[in-house]
Amino acid sequence: MKKISVKICIGTTCYVQGQSNMKELSKIIPEKYGDNVELTPSQCLGVCSIKWGDPKPPYAKVDEDIIQEATVEKVIKAIDEKLKL
Ligand code: FES
Repeated sequence: MKKISVKICIGTTCYVQGQSNMKELSKIIPEKYGDNVELTPSQCLGVCSIKWGDPKPPYAKVDEDIIQEATVEKVIKAIDEKLKL
């Protein structure tokens, strides 16, 4: 099975916009998915700049898909869709 990569942005913009709410992912992901999902913190994912239009931090990335206004629920849903759960 292909391993899914989850990156949570810990850059300043995302941090002040609520990234800390996603701390519980570090507990949920290993419990729910075991080794099938690799969670890593990431410095700025490069999508919070105004040049992207209307920035909606905090951001997370599930494989190549950017999740804006990321929450625990949105990240879990994106992983489930990738794994077809
Ligand atoms: S600080 Fe999060 S995408 Fe830039």
